[in-house]
Amino acid sequence: MIQAPEPEATRRIAGIGESSRANRHWWDRNADDYQLEHGEFLGDARFVWGPEGLDEADAGLLGPAAGLKDLAVLEIGAGAAQCSRWLAARGARPVALDLSRRQLQHARRIDEEVPGGPVRLVQADAGALPFADASFDLACSAYGALPFVADSARVMREVRRVLRPGGRWVFSVTHPVRWAFPDEPGPDGLTAASSYFDRTPYVEQDDRGIAVYVEHHRTLGDRVREIAAAGLRLVDLVEPEWPAWNEQEWGGWSPLRGRLLPGTAIFVCVAE
Ligand SMILES: C[S@@+](CC[C@H](N)C(=O)[O-])C[C@H]1O[C@@H](n2cnc3c(N)ncnc32)[C@H](O)[C@@H]1O
Repeated sequence: MIQAPEPEATRRIAGIGESSRANRHWWDRNADDYQLEHGEFLGDARFVWGPEGLDEADAGLLGPAAGLKDLAVLEIGAGAAQCSRWLAARGARPVALDLSRRQLQHARRIDEEVPGGPVRLVQADAGALPFADASFDLACSAYGALPFVADSARVMREVRRVLRPGGRWVFSVTHPVRWAFPDEPGPDGLTAASSYFDRTPYVEQDDRGIAVYVEHHRTLGDRVREIAAAGLRLVDLVEPEWPAWNEQEWGGWSPLRGRLLPGTAIFVCVAE
């Protein structure tokens, strides 16, 4: 059997369409491995904000759990909808949106395995939300979409549009400072090797130069400005510390690096 050559990792411009296409295919191809590798850590119906293991049940970033009842919630980049299932168990009415059909098929698989009704699933791009204005009370995202989109300001505007005034928007992303370091869990990942200020996307491309995976960087200041420009108010920025119980590596996130550097940034915003 002829094996496709390994993609080349590079830094170059990648626009909205190219990034969306590349990442949709990447997540479709890799969803099975992702769920196999991380499904147990994520749990079928838990709300985990990132590789540190911060659990919404403890963090309460969406507000008191008792207040979630009956809220219309949009989860963006939901993957297998684990967080939405946690929200549904608290009486919320979540919609789990993701770009990848295969990730959503995993959501359906889990729905058939665990008690509780099926979560409402929508396949769409976070940059063009297929919902009416002011149709949600709350929006959330645990590492969904934002690290992968070329125009994250557009996602902020779209989220603001579909939220009712006063609604919360809470999202986690790779902590921006990690961009300056190699994505290695070991000691090689502790020495800054590129500029934090260089926003040129990380692109993996095939031998024809077609992107097969793209990640986009925003500095902390970029994120704050995009939030404010969309008509959202930033009320907290949470940087979870690496807990002593967590010995698990997740790609470039590891106990070694986690004890020295922030790995996740969680932005808590309110629609003005
Ligand atoms: C790291 S996973 C996070 C999923 C889930 N929250 C979890 O913790 O497993 C990122 C998810 O974002 C989705 N995604 C990437 N780009 C997206 C986009 N432009 N719009 C919507 N979803 C996107 C991927 O398909 C993937 O399911």
